[in-house]
Amino acid sequence: MCYPLPVSGQKLVELSQVLHAKNTAGEFTPDFSFDMDAFYGTYGDRKNAQGKAYYEAMNIMREDEEGRRQATALNFSFFNAPQAVFLFMPVFGDSVRTAGDVGMYAQTFLLSLAARGLGGIPQTSLGFFAQTIREVLGISEEMKMLFGMSFGYPDANAPGNRTQVDRVPIAESVTFHS
Ligand SMILES: Cc1cc2nc3c(=O)[nH]c(=O)nc-3n(C[C@H](O)[C@H](O)[C@H](O)COP(=O)(O)O)c2cc1C
Repeated sequence: MCYPLPVSGQKLVELSQVLHAKNTAGEFTPDFSFDMDAFYGTYGDRKNAQGKAYYEAMNIMREDEEGRRQATALNFSFFNAPQAVFLFMPVFGDSVRTAGDVGMYAQTFLLSLAARGLGGIPQTSLGFFAQTIREVLGISEEMKMLFGMSFGYPDANAPGNRTQVDRVPIAESVTFHS
């Protein structure tokens, strides 16, 4: 069960300003926990490799804190996309199954964008400001937000788009039984 809220125009500009301010102030109000340090072993290695490739594509060195801050802040300008959609859900039990529904919705949405020559950026970072987004959009407390996605026509020259994240080979991720 997924309730998408698309936002564009002046409302997106307003939301962007509020999100930048909250991010600078460190006022995080997520509905669901997310701990980057929880990724262990191979999973942590893959996360680090993805981060390294992404920052290198933007010519940002690991010790360049200001560069990293600016790159992160792009999330709150929606990577200059003209539209964003925020995925809300009602809460049933531990939310795991409903979160699965939201993931399925998001994937279908991203594929349908690609089929039309558009592109989308799923952004967990927007989920860190769930309460703020609820307030700006006037959403009921009952609806919880997992993440949002910016979308529009992709700019192939944008630094973040110059990197292609590796996929684990099928032989490593799938175990066939017959
Ligand atoms: C659920 C999910 C959340 C993500 N959250 C963010 C995010 O908050 N900020 C960001 O820059 N990239 C985030 N990413 C990564 C990018 O959106 C994108 O998926 C990644 O760069 C790989 O692109 P590709 O899947 O087209 O190879 C997220 C990816 C997923 C699947």
